[in-house]
Amino acid sequence: MKEKILEMKNLVKTYTMGDEEQVVLKGIDLKINRGDFLSVLGPSGSGKSTLMNIIGCLDVPTSGSYYLSGERIEDLPETALSHIRNREIGFIFQQFQLLPRLSAQKNVELPLIYAGVPEKERQLRSADILKRVGLAEKMKNRPNQLSGGQQQRVAIARALVTEPTILLADEPTGALDQQTGHQIMELFKELYQEGKTIVMITHDGDVAKNGSRIVRIVDGNLSEGVYNA
Ligand SMILES: Nc1ncnc2c1ncn2[C@@H]1O[C@H](COP(=O)(O)OP(=O)(O)OP(=O)(O)O)[C@@H](O)[C@H]1O
Ligand SMILES: [Mg+2]
Repeated sequence: MKEKILEMKNLVKTYTMGDEEQVVLKGIDLKINRGDFLSVLGPSGSGKSTLMNIIGCLDVPTSGSYYLSGERIEDLPETALSHIRNREIGFIFQQFQLLPRLSAQKNVELPLIYAGVPEKERQLRSADILKRVGLAEKMKNRPNQLSGGQQQRVAIARALVTEPTILLADEPTGALDQQTGHQIMELFKELYQEGKTIVMITHDGDVAKNGSRIVRIVDGNLSEGVYNA
């Protein structure tokens, strides 16, 4: 049996603006097993980023339950959430979110600094993982000395270096041209084949097809899509 690492039950997220209430996630049920490569496909405004923020413990649901690695998340205070976030989640964003004044290697070392890993080990682990994503020659470059695809590889290395439970990517190819985006998807597929668990948010059906499993979110409702694998 596959190991379940994430479960949401009847999860609801409501935003209140003045006296207007908007229900953005309308009772989401979702299970993710270790080793899944899940694509969450949906149009603009459907609630994808809201869902990603909850999966990534950046926000909490209004009601319903959310379990991550067996822990019940929805009632935890921010300090506990930030611990879980650092341990369990590797974030990958559309705009890479690298620190411009730091080298590729220093960017990858950052989460290890937060985790209290000593310097020598940080250097070894960041160098290893940058080699893994094909950037052995570029470790000393700053982000503006790298192409978009290379910057996204640095961001992927930064997400991988702490060995998180889930890689969580919001439109990871959204800022890249088609060919570069394709190369990044090839890297995701390799990581999937190595056993990594990936959740990827996208509005692009062709990008979503790279996943082993697709769910669709439309107007805050989630439904299981087709299985590729
Ligand atoms: N902090 C917030 N306060 C109030 N409303 C919000 C907030 N965040 C999102 N919303 C609303 O929730 C809905 C879903 O937004 P969300 O960002 O999750 O969509 P999305 O699917 O990620 O869209 P996109 O593809 O454009 O990124 C939108 O109607 C948005 O206006
Ligand atoms: Mg979004």
